Amino acid sequence: MMINNITTMVVLLAAIGFSTQTTAETVSSLRGAADIDQDSAAPVAKKYAKDNEPISRDYVQQPPLIPHKIKNYRINLKSNKCMSCHSWSNYREANATKISQTHFESRDKNVLANVSARRYFCTQCHVPQVNAQPLVENVFEPVTAISGQ
Ligand code: HEC
Ligand code: HEC
Repeated sequence: MMINNITTMVVLLAAIGFSTQTTAETVSSLRGAADIDQDSAAPVAKKYAKDNEPISRDYVQQPPLIPHKIKNYRINLKSNKCMSCHSWSNYREANATKISQTHFESRDKNVLANVSARRYFCTQCHVPQVNAQPLVENVFEPVTAISGQ
């Protein structure tokens, strides 16, 4: 009886081993590569949308999308190119939107005289746009209160 069970197990294990092997042979790459261990082709670099009017928001708390290119707009310890147009001292001259009050609030809810460190790296929340096909379908509808319907 015991021997019988062991034999059955050996046969089963062999069968499992065999079946995983056959599946591995039929796996096809979702990346479009001919073989799964082949590198994918580098995607074509997309062009960022040209300077445009502000893009309407989909929900009240959404960080507005950037309606212009930001190539070479550096943000580092020494300078923040975005602030040269969006700060309260420069926005009029640049004809840009000024950063909102919320951008002056520290983590402890103190209101500062300048942009808060937690809002310094603008592109953490604000992103420029490219005209690209969505990778997955999205049926999200904006809140009617702000979409003006
Ligand atoms: C040379 C000036 C300039 C620079 C630099 C600049 N912007 Fe702008 N930005 C503008 C102007 C002008 C607008 C459009 C305002 C309009 O048409 O009402 C704008 C619009 C925006 C908006 C949309 C605001 C809204 O209400 O929808 C965001 C967000 C924004 N910029 C973020 C950034 C970020 C982040 C950077 C840095 C990476 C940056 N901008 C750098 C001039 C600038
Ligand atoms: C942590 C996320 C975050 C960061 C970082 C951030 N923002 Fe924003 N921003 C928001 C959100 C959310 C809003 C919309 C609600 C509000 O006004 O706070 C907004 C609004 C804005 C607006 C529109 C203001 C208005 O009155 O309609 C501008 C312009 C803007 N941000 C520019 C900037 C710039 C420039 C920087 C970098 C110095 C920056 N933001 C950093 C989240 C962020």
